[in-house]
Amino acid sequence: MLTNPILTEASAQFAADVRRGLTQVGQKELPSKYLYDALGSRLFEAICELDEYALTRADERLLRGNAREMVARIPGPMVVAELGSGNGRKARWILEAVSRNRPTSYYPIEISPTALAMCRRELADIEAVSVVGFEREYLDGLLEVASRRQPGRRILVLFLGSTIGNFDRPADVHFLREVRRILQPGDALLLGTDLEKPIDQLIRAYDDPLGITAAFNLNLLARINRELDADFIIEQFEHEARFNFDTRSIEMHIRSTRDQIVTVGGAGMSAPILENETIWTESCHKYTVDEVTAMAATADFYCDAQWVDDQWPFAESLLVAE
Ligand code: AVI
Repeated sequence: MLTNPILTEASAQFAADVRRGLTQVGQKELPSKYLYDALGSRLFEAICELDEYALTRADERLLRGNAREMVARIPGPMVVAELGSGNGRKARWILEAVSRNRPTSYYPIEISPTALAMCRRELADIEAVSVVGFEREYLDGLLEVASRRQPGRRILVLFLGSTIGNFDRPADVHFLREVRRILQPGDALLLGTDLEKPIDQLIRAYDDPLGITAAFNLNLLARINRELDADFIIEQFEHEARFNFDTRSIEMHIRSTRDQIVTVGGAGMSAPILENETIWTESCHKYTVDEVTAMAATADFYCDAQWVDDQWPFAESLLVAE
């Protein structure tokens, strides 16, 4: 008889998602949001430093070089909300540009308390910016920001780092629609998207020679061991990054190197895993600039401007709510 210890709401949800993902018929999967516990968030920070993962540096170059122009395109006073702020480093240039003329509120929205704490520390030195973090799912947090709106203030939403690419198509457009429903005409969304590039370059970005991405991916099993009393033997699994030509995405999987049975006590389940069977943990979709403009139009935004990095194809699109 498997035991089920007393769970908090968040860990009950985690347990339910793990149970569903590991017992479903066909491809096993685990939601990518669970990659970001305290250790996972730190490993992701390390990924962003890798030579092979130039995505974050491209995003930052575009923001650093164009923040003033981006902000100048949105008239009047505004507050800034960020979906998945991470350590807050990327918001810095936008916040410095917005707060040059008047004090500004910044609302990072994150499910990771570790990331929110890093974000508060990172931005503490910008005096004209008050940081109020929301430990929420993106849309819940954005609803909260919208409910605090003062008359005459626009909301500028930052959704950077190509996190939109971690949604499946067409869930990405659906998500943009949901964001648009919370906003008012004239509000804006600054959307970062990684663009298509040679497949071998993408594979190296998601399967780096130092093994940081492998550690990031395998940490999900270690997290299930830690939090849900599971018995994954991490050494019996391998990281795998593959390109899916149909969806134009990198997929991260965890491959079992032998037939084995895992038990997750906190989820009240056991599951056989065959040699070479994989657990799908994340998709990272790659876009074209025209596709981003079309997605925006479908979600009732118009694309006011786009900036593309000249070293690593990556786009920043300023989408204005119609
Ligand atoms: C957070 N997200 C945009 C990253 C990406 O590139 O899709 C997550 C990541 N997974 C492995 N490396 C980076």
